[in-house]
Amino acid sequence: MDKFQIHGGRRLQGTVPIDGAKNAALPAMAMALLTSEPVTIENIPHVHDIVTMRRLLEHMRARVSPLEENPHAVTIQAAEISHAEAPYDLVKTMRASILTLGPLLARSGYARISLPGGCAIGARPVDLHIRALEQMGAQISLDHGYVEARAERLHGAEISFEKITVTGTENIMAAAALADGETVLTNAAREPEIEDCANLLNKMGAKIEDAGASTIRIQGVASLHGAIHTIIPDRIETGTFAVAAAITAGDLLLTHCNPDHIAAVIEKLSSCGVEFSADRAKPGELRVRAGSRLDGRDLTTEEYPGFATDMQAQYMALMTQAEGESEITETIFENRYLHASEMTRLGADISISGSQAVVRGPTPLIGARVIASDLRASACLVLAGLAASNTTSIDRVYHIDRGYECIEEKLRAVGADIERIK
Ligand code: EPZ
Repeated sequence: MDKFQIHGGRRLQGTVPIDGAKNAALPAMAMALLTSEPVTIENIPHVHDIVTMRRLLEHMRARVSPLEENPHAVTIQAAEISHAEAPYDLVKTMRASILTLGPLLARSGYARISLPGGCAIGARPVDLHIRALEQMGAQISLDHGYVEARAERLHGAEISFEKITVTGTENIMAAAALADGETVLTNAAREPEIEDCANLLNKMGAKIEDAGASTIRIQGVASLHGAIHTIIPDRIETGTFAVAAAITAGDLLLTHCNPDHIAAVIEKLSSCGVEFSADRAKPGELRVRAGSRLDGRDLTTEEYPGFATDMQAQYMALMTQAEGESEITETIFENRYLHASEMTRLGADISISGSQAVVRGPTPLIGARVIASDLRASACLVLAGLAASNTTSIDRVYHIDRGYECIEEKLRAVGADIERIK
């Protein structure tokens, strides 16, 4: 297993190009199952979850071919669905495999998807996906850890999610796109990735209105056709590098990003003293500089457009260097503080009780050997390593490779002393 070795204490300065959003690319790839025609997706990040999704689609006999002229693009063609199954050994490493359930059911009337199983950050059931599909006429049974779903023909329904679910919203939009009649989704997720998924589906001939709002309307159509689509920038990668600038007293220019997608993060970090500037003439760019002060500020994670749960761990790293006490409340997942214990080994002063974490700062961080536990926790440990004195080594960096493309190369390019040890 690879690990990172970081000699901290260096200011980061320079330009960081932001990749396409992993959490937009994964649903986009799954949507290609809805048509027999080729779907080309561009601005795909080279992260491990994309490799897993590609293996999953190929297991279903879809053809997935990278474009020679563009290594960040792929064409997917599911000419026919002959193997509508997502096996456990693929699903166990990536919960987002559940995104193939809606498309397979809508396209072929059958799907057999391994249950994702809990992962480091909580139980993460799929009960809301299943209940919604049953409302659309699917017969779903759970057997031997698999969701087995059948539907002669899905029909539209009035569906209200009792909890906001991102992939649940994407799964139902996909199923409703080919269902008989209208589906109205209320309490839908509003993340930019939802809107991006709907934009792709509409390019494929779907009739989806108001994606990105809490109520989405979908008129079913008989079939969908191929399309070409460019994935939105990764707002979590953008936020992660913004924290990297702030925590190293640095100055970074983030390019190919969309600042509008992290308004809540920008607002929160600005209140702590981080300085942001954007040039109207260059909409895809955002400059982030550490300010003259860094004050602790409380945080509560919320569904979009609130402060993203996927940025909570990164924010916690920053708060260890901020003046005063900050109370962090995680409202989306029940166990998303695994990074806290590793952070205290670096010298942070963090106390956890239930969904709350109290961080007291600033405390000097001193390099140590730590272990990554999940994707965003590992990002937190990298950020802490950049700010710590001496050397920090981080084991199990496969977690970070799931969601960030060559993060060590991007960090080295702006002055970090980080290397991957095979
Ligand atoms: C998506 O996960 C993202 N993944 C996650 O990013 C992100 O943390 C999460 O949304 C919240 O923003 C992708 O988009 C591929 P949810 P998802 O369904 O859809 C509960 C990362 O770091 N719930 O919105 O799986 C669930 O347990 C990953 O890139 C049910 O109870 O999350 C959680 O507490 C991590 N029943 C809450 O809802 C269900 O059927 C939100 O989950 C579904 C969800």
